[in-house]
Amino acid sequence: MATVIVFGNEKGGTGKSTLAVHVAVALARQGLKVDAIDGDVNQGTLSRYLENRQAFLSSNPGAQLALPRLISNYWVTFSQEKLSEWFAGLPADVVVIDTPGSLTPLSETLHSFADLIVTPLNDSLIDLAVLADVDPETGEVRKPGHYAERVWNARKARAARDGGSISWTVLRNRLSALDAHNKRVMADILGKLAARVGFDTGPGFGERVIFRELFLQGLTLSDFEDKSSGLAWTVSHVAARQELRDLIDCLAKSLGQGIAASVAESG
Ligand SMILES: Nc1ncnc2c1ncn2[C@@H]1O[C@H](COP(=O)(O)OP(=O)(O)O)[C@@H](O)[C@H]1O
Ligand SMILES: [Mg+2]
Repeated sequence: MATVIVFGNEKGGTGKSTLAVHVAVALARQGLKVDAIDGDVNQGTLSRYLENRQAFLSSNPGAQLALPRLISNYWVTFSQEKLSEWFAGLPADVVVIDTPGSLTPLSETLHSFADLIVTPLNDSLIDLAVLADVDPETGEVRKPGHYAERVWNARKARAARDGGSISWTVLRNRLSALDAHNKRVMADILGKLAARVGFDTGPGFGERVIFRELFLQGLTLSDFEDKSSGLAWTVSHVAARQELRDLIDCLAKSLGQGIAASVAESG
């Protein structure tokens, strides 16, 4: 049975699709068989990203880059039972699923198949509201946020279906190099929320223009390591690549045995 990683958040524009593709490619590069599912039927960013990658590979026959298999949306009409069977039958080691920044029945169902949910947050206090309603005076959690409730529902649905549990990693994306105060406040509040709301905090990503540039060619930071890609390193790429490596290590740890072992073996 494949390990399922779902990228989700109640908000758009936090880096779900970008990071989903980066993780999918990084794992595929390590020799794992990776399937990618686009659960954001309207935006289709993950699909476009991987189609751009396919086009890049077609026009650069020398480039030997890992290509996760994109599974298109034909399966969206499946019932829950069929979906269980379908997931169980996938030949992949890892399935990476991207979801929209809004509540859809499909997204809700997909969340319930996760082994691990990854939630990127933009680095602003406003974004914390998806996790919890926090009293600004005392810092106390007044009630869980909308997305925290969705994860809770997904955990219940998963437990009822197969007794399995879902890990949840929250990470900060687009960290500004300048705003040290905001960074500290965010880190502090997230640390407090983690235990209350039920997630682990993962390593974050700085604000880096490179992410926007890579999309059009369907490329990711891992591809800089393959000479055949023809990409040239700069200092900013090196730092970003390290952030990606830290994330992959962190995800492997959250997933315990399964992909941790495969990732370790493949180096
Ligand atoms: N760390 C980052 N630094 C700079 N731009 C980023 C970063 N992460 C994502 N982006 C950009 O932000 C935009 C939204 O990202 P996307 O992955 O589509 O978010 P979502 O899927 O959550 O809506 C894209 O233009 C993407 O290139
Ligand atoms: Mg998206």
